[in-house]
Amino acid sequence: MKKSISGFSKMSKRKKLRWIVENFFKDPESVMRELSGYWLSNEKEQRILDGFSENTISNFYLPFGVAPNFIVNGKTYAVPMVIEESSVVAAASAAAKFWMNRGGFNAEVISTKKVGQVHFSWHGNPETLKTAFPEIKKVLIEATTGITKNMENRGGGIAEIILKDMTEHDKGYFQLMATFETCDSMGANFINSILEAFAATLVEFVKEDDRFIGREKEVDIIMSILSNYTPECLVRTWVECPVADLGTFGKDMSSEQFADKFCRAVKIAHIDPYRATTHNKGIFNGIDAVVLATANDFRAIEACGHTYAAKDGQYRSLTHCKVENGIFKFWLDLPLAIGTVGGLTKLHPIARRSLELLGNPNAEELMGIIAATGLAQNFAAIRSLVTTGIQKGHMKMHLLNILNHQGASETEIKNAVEHFNDKTVSVSGVRDYLTATREQTDKDSSTLSLKAE
Ligand code: MEV
Repeated sequence: MKKSISGFSKMSKRKKLRWIVENFFKDPESVMRELSGYWLSNEKEQRILDGFSENTISNFYLPFGVAPNFIVNGKTYAVPMVIEESSVVAAASAAAKFWMNRGGFNAEVISTKKVGQVHFSWHGNPETLKTAFPEIKKVLIEATTGITKNMENRGGGIAEIILKDMTEHDKGYFQLMATFETCDSMGANFINSILEAFAATLVEFVKEDDRFIGREKEVDIIMSILSNYTPECLVRTWVECPVADLGTFGKDMSSEQFADKFCRAVKIAHIDPYRATTHNKGIFNGIDAVVLATANDFRAIEACGHTYAAKDGQYRSLTHCKVENGIFKFWLDLPLAIGTVGGLTKLHPIARRSLELLGNPNAEELMGIIAATGLAQNFAAIRSLVTTGIQKGHMKMHLLNILNHQGASETEIKNAVEHFNDKTVSVSGVRDYLTATREQTDKDSSTLSLKAE
């Protein structure tokens, strides 16, 4: 067995897979068959997928589901969701349906600015740099017109560049902090190209400008990169209705009691970071699923959301809730730097279909849909938590997974769902149940055949 190799990336996909199965698996032939069995039969589509990443040997499948009945700003959507966790799509669908009859979700894009930074050291006199900055700024903008032209034609471009003195944190540390409008694209490549051009232009300016003659060593670029923290690329989504319209919950909970418990549950996630983390995780169950389905960057969205949740120095709930003048209002403020053009959005065959399913929204409309799905997810989770508890719904799906894993037939699944309706689900419990019912069926059929003889 060889565990390391050189030149792996240059090998064909089949050879890569062959080398992997022969060196890391006990039964290479069957793993070879299995993993190559997940390749798409359409070679052209497979080549597109392989082009997204490096060293691909197969495809990793995740369920592509849909949550229908989502009303956002009066428009009805069937929201595409890619997620492996059971109950998430069911919960989003249930919350969408609940709010469908209570005015649906509202969404408002508050701002759409993206951010990027050139981090550099300035060893010279800070005042000389600050005085020259208005001129430097002009030169930076002029130097990047080749990159910004197309974006400007679409209504975007560089919004602002400021010089930030960070020397109180680290000796000589400065930043060029730039904001951008990137229209319907996420804009990562656009921003990073501009930032690198800014860095080169700054160095050139210092080299050439009379005020800095002989002092070109005073500027030292550290790095140029966009920031995934985009608090000014913000969407708000909310639901509201009279408390009485929330309905009753089970035998014992009135709508007033529900609204009170619900708001307290949200408040707890503002007070306690342990709860806030799980609370926000539930929101991202919905957010990530739509972000993935539309081939946006879910790591960027997650990183940004969590930073935003800690913007006042403590990690807190991303959602808020209040009851005022008899009206229940539940809302989410979330920075969402996403795109509907560029990146993989139109290249990934299923992402393309996801966007089509949503009526090919622009970035702002998609921000609203994604945020509404996150809010719906949070509503569904808290509603379960403060009423029946979360396990009831979870265990229903868990039961199906266990039954499928045990190779249960359709009839066995139907009977088991009925049997476990009022019982605790566990892997061993389901296994024992299946063994007992199968033994009983065998006994019954041998008694029948004895009778027939
Ligand atoms: C599970 O994936 C998500 C929840 O834990 C979220 C929550 O507790 O709010 C149900």
